[in-house]
Amino acid sequence: MADTERIFDTDRRIRLGIWGLGRGLSFFRTCEALNLDVVAGCDYNRHMRDRFHEAQPSALVTDDAERFLAGDFDAVLLATFCPAHADDARRCLAAGKHVLSEVTAFHTLAEGVALVEAVERSGRVYNLAENYPFSAANMWLARRWQEGLFGDLMYAEYEYVHECRSLCYTYIDGEPIQPGNQVHSWRSWLNFHYYNTHSLGPVMHITGLRPTRVVALPSSPGLAGYLMGALQGMGGAAPSLINLSNGAVMRNLMGATTNDTHQQRLWGTLGSAEQVDGQLRLRLGASGNGPRHVVKPAWDALGELAARTGHGGGDFWTLYYFARQILDGRPAPFDVYRAADCTIPGIQAYRSSLHGGAPMPVPDLRQPAERDACRHDTFAQPRFDDRAGLFPGIAGNELTEQFSLTMRDLIRGVTAYRAWRDWRQVAAELDQPARLGEFADALQSELPRLAEVVPTARRLMAAYPGTPGARVLGEMLALADDVDLAGTAFAADLAAERQRLALPSASA
Ligand SMILES: NC(=O)c1ccc[n+]([C@@H]2O[C@H](COP(=O)([O-])OP(=O)(O)OC[C@H]3O[C@@H](n4cnc5c(N)ncnc54)[C@H](O)[C@@H]3O)[C@@H](O)[C@H]2O)c1
Repeated sequence: MADTERIFDTDRRIRLGIWGLGRGLSFFRTCEALNLDVVAGCDYNRHMRDRFHEAQPSALVTDDAERFLAGDFDAVLLATFCPAHADDARRCLAAGKHVLSEVTAFHTLAEGVALVEAVERSGRVYNLAENYPFSAANMWLARRWQEGLFGDLMYAEYEYVHECRSLCYTYIDGEPIQPGNQVHSWRSWLNFHYYNTHSLGPVMHITGLRPTRVVALPSSPGLAGYLMGALQGMGGAAPSLINLSNGAVMRNLMGATTNDTHQQRLWGTLGSAEQVDGQLRLRLGASGNGPRHVVKPAWDALGELAARTGHGGGDFWTLYYFARQILDGRPAPFDVYRAADCTIPGIQAYRSSLHGGAPMPVPDLRQPAERDACRHDTFAQPRFDDRAGLFPGIAGNELTEQFSLTMRDLIRGVTAYRAWRDWRQVAAELDQPARLGEFADALQSELPRLAEVVPTARRLMAAYPGTPGARVLGEMLALADDVDLAGTAFAADLAAERQRLALPSASA
């Protein structure tokens, strides 16, 4: 299908405003073909507004949410801070707009109830933009699952393991947080259990089941450079086990670890499926040792268009279902009730982890009694003070305001050092020994920047000992064995080591 072909059988257009112009901007490419005209954008952040203005010069652009919501448009793509989505969605609904909300839908159960009731009162369309169910493989599995190919779900393991440590210190586009003595509004502290929908969402969509109960044992080890410990913040592993409405169990694994993985495995009573390293493999034949083969799920014509947009097609489909529901009323997969089903297990998993892994129910907000029981449940994790928590009690100054840029570049440089250092230890067993040269190149290209940021990090640590800012800088430096990465001696040693190992030089 050509990009210009009609997707919906109507000329009716939907006027769309985007609130939050970081992630919000990535939907742009798909809008036009889906009868969506982007006519307004809102962001506190000047550089986000500038990017939006460049992409859509005729649209209203403002930092003022009131002014934005008063604009003449029908629907909002809501991509503001994650824990603010419920309140922001309610403001949009109150302004008469349909809402496509980024994940997750809400941060507390009480907010969930308020959101569900606001949607019910409004008569507007509310969808959650959970996009991971809508890859070619997951959509194919959903179709086959509903046809009965796999039988009833027995067990599933889906993962969203994503170490995005530097996003604690930058915006989504990699620009350091400003002012530089502050950190990201929520990525600096949100426990990974809360960010659970990219792994649970696909299982819900494929099987049609809803979660009913969750347990999560606390897991305390965490990565260096995170502002809160793994039990509270984002820098650890966050596995939970979830009971689904047919009695099956799924393991929902999120986290920031040393291995980003998105493996996905489903066991049904008649057959199984697994997606490992981008391959979809089935075992069919209703037995543990039945024939096992790779399948290649084909997109339909619309799917091919989807595949050319973001997140493996997922962003296309969330927009498509949203526009379709506004245009002809056909329900989208993640309405506000499914959004709640998908969001609540994250909140309850975190709660379970604080109670030694005690089972927690997943209330069904469709049911009046269960809804009432959640109405005043404002349980939430503690937050890091993103504005003043790095150097408490110390007013911004020339040195502290270098923190976010320093930390961003230190993370990049130190992890490049670590990759070189650790791969060198197993170089003899490396299947392609020449790869070691790439790790040396990567480190070498970081050295000029390290020569600047390591001394700044040391100055900050000396000036403000005992602060969270000094601690995370110190953790990153410790990852580099406290080797002086900024010194000329280190650069000379690296060059000598390359020569000894006969690794070609980057400039050769
Ligand atoms: N589905 C996915 O694949 C995916 C990928 C990335 C992000 N997300 C979600 O999208 C949302 C946005 O993420 P992001 O990566 O852009 O990071 P972010 O949280 O840094 O971006 C939010 C943006 O909204 C702006 N903003 C927040 N509140 C505002 C307000 N009241 N008025 C004006 N501007 C406001 C901020 O300045 C910022 O630019 C998050 O909730 C995240 O979970 C989803």
